[in-house]
Amino acid sequence: MNVKRILSGMRPTGKLHLGNLHGALKNWVELQDSARYECFYFVADWHAVTSEYSSTEDIKSNAVNMVIDWLSVGLDPSKSTLFVQSAVKEHAELFLLLAMITPLAWLERNPTYKEMKTELSNKDLSTFGFLGYPVLQAADIIMYKANGVPVGVDQLPHVELTREIARRFNFLYREIFPVPEPLLTSVPKLLGTDGRKMSKSYDNSIYIGDRGKVLQQKIASMFTDPQRMRRKDPGNPEICNVFSFHQLYTALEKVREIDTECRKAGIGCTDCKKLLAQQVAEAMKPVHERMDFYNKNIKEIYSIIEEGNKKATTIARQTMEEVREAMKI
Ligand code: TRP
Ligand code: SF4
Repeated sequence: MNVKRILSGMRPTGKLHLGNLHGALKNWVELQDSARYECFYFVADWHAVTSEYSSTEDIKSNAVNMVIDWLSVGLDPSKSTLFVQSAVKEHAELFLLLAMITPLAWLERNPTYKEMKTELSNKDLSTFGFLGYPVLQAADIIMYKANGVPVGVDQLPHVELTREIARRFNFLYREIFPVPEPLLTSVPKLLGTDGRKMSKSYDNSIYIGDRGKVLQQKIASMFTDPQRMRRKDPGNPEICNVFSFHQLYTALEKVREIDTECRKAGIGCTDCKKLLAQQVAEAMKPVHERMDFYNKNIKEIYSIIEEGNKKATTIARQTMEEVREAMKI
């Protein structure tokens, strides 16, 4: 049987938070452990340059730390291929060739392109590289002939573009590439401590590496049901972010109890958060142990990445031979 291949990537823009964990990484680990797929996960460091080109000094260390986060939450280099985009130069060649066949209009109408340009208005993103972001992403994906791409909804337009580019290549030259399917991750609604979307730029994130006092304080500072002003006011767990976290970290029976007690002011938010902090700390303990191990054994990280880069390069070279042959160059 032909094992399906899946591939996904992340930009190394800083420490990963619990939103990243539940929104993407948990799913990556599950796909890996299901053993139904051959998994490729990579650090999209060239993609990080599209928006960070004027200050690139953190990209390398972010990349290493991101791989530490990945391994800590359970990605396993004996099951998945973990690699760094910029180490596999073939991505650049495929990007260049795909750029030749990608109509400008496909890129200009890309909704993420328009959004990011307005959102990151403090950066000048009127660059050729930024417009071409999805072409590089298409190269990443089809290089490994991936069948599935696990992503969040925000990445759907990019996967759609990849599909169009793959079809166009197959049509113009030869049927080389499978048209990849997006594997949508259903994301539990975890907000940041201030009730907005969890994001590094809002300073409201609980990081995968947070523990001890830092973790306790962040959880203690979380927004709850805004209607619940006093201890004696009944609360509504349905609109409480702390409760959403409990649903992920606390045993079902206890979650039910919190639900009932909150509604009749039987439990106060302070205690509810203390309990949550304990649960999160407990759940993250093995993650933090692995993190400590890798931080003490950085060499191991480098050799894992090295190994992954080699595996990825072997496949990328084969693909590029086929591509050059199909394009007669
Ligand atoms: N654009 C993706 C993001 O911002 C990262 C990425 C780059 C990617 N190449 C990819 C994701 C290929 C999936 C497949 O998160
Ligand atoms: Fe939220 Fe818990 Fe407070 Fe209820 S008791 S509002 S669930 S923090």
